[in-house]
Amino acid sequence: MMDWTDRHCRYFLRLLSSNALLYTEMVTTGALLNGDHERFLRHDEAEHPLALQLGGSVPADLAACARMAEAAGYDEVNLNVGCPSDRVQNNMIGACLMGHPQLVADCVKAMRDAVAIPVTVKHRIGINGRDSYAQLCDFVGTVRDAGCTSFTVHARIAILEGLSPKENRDIPPLRYDVAAQLKQDFSELEIILNGGIKTLEQCHAHLQTFDGVMLGREAYHNPYLLAEVDQQLFASTAAVISRAEALARMRPYIAAHIAAGGAMHHITRHMLGLGQGFPGARRFRQLLSVDIHKTQDPLALLDQAGLLLEGR
Ligand SMILES: Cc1cc2nc3c(=O)[nH]c(=O)nc-3n(C[C@H](O)[C@H](O)[C@H](O)COP(=O)(O)O)c2cc1C
Repeated sequence: MMDWTDRHCRYFLRLLSSNALLYTEMVTTGALLNGDHERFLRHDEAEHPLALQLGGSVPADLAACARMAEAAGYDEVNLNVGCPSDRVQNNMIGACLMGHPQLVADCVKAMRDAVAIPVTVKHRIGINGRDSYAQLCDFVGTVRDAGCTSFTVHARIAILEGLSPKENRDIPPLRYDVAAQLKQDFSELEIILNGGIKTLEQCHAHLQTFDGVMLGREAYHNPYLLAEVDQQLFASTAAVISRAEALARMRPYIAAHIAAGGAMHHITRHMLGLGQGFPGARRFRQLLSVDIHKTQDPLALLDQAGLLLEGR
């Protein structure tokens, strides 16, 4: 998720679940090919399993970027066919590509020919003017014929004129029934459900129908939700990490970032939700979002926040 799942965020989320697949922010082919690719590809070994999400629609460029992803050690490369932002539409990136199934297929084929790691697609159930079930099947079938076997379905359409990206995540109604029909009609494909999932109980329920679930906003705002993913969804017998332990395990990472000239809030801005639902959550958030900008000793502040999570 843009501006959210940067490398610091992913390092933190990985402490909470060893098994969940994590995704980068979307990186455009233009940024990777013409920009500071080392910065865009940078990640910590601890972040695996990790997918790089690409935005683009020029097969040769996507192939080159997929190669870069593979060389950098990513476990999967995912093509974004779901983002509704005007900015990306003008560059033929994101959800507008649902209107061009053959182009997406050509992109997937070029990427698959370039790398051995899985090439997956994240898409909507339609876009305005192209939102029938037959058109959705045409999209998925065409992209499948290019070799894609894993589709992450954000189960609402995107309205490409008139709604902001944020509205496009809330206003078009969720249609889990449409995604379920897709799974039934393309039973050989891996279909992963995305959109509006907030609890592990809901994950369990959806996993009766789908091959996987993807959580976006809830995982970010309430990251401690991930702490039981390994036990509840991956049959792990490991002990569930506590909030305080997760914070303590971030300390060396944060200290190293500060020692390298970085600021603690680059990292802790992604951790504000760790106290969610816990006594002291407000104070925890305040320490790391307000007091942090006044302190000369950020690590002492972090330790203070840690004590709150221990309930002291
Ligand atoms: C701040 C923000 C940034 C996002 N950036 C991306 C992105 O880069 N790529 C993508 O596929 N989806 C992106 N999304 C959409 C989410 O991945 C997800 O599809 C959507 O929020 C619905 O799932 P949820 O209800 O679990 O959040 C973003 C969402 C938010 C809130």
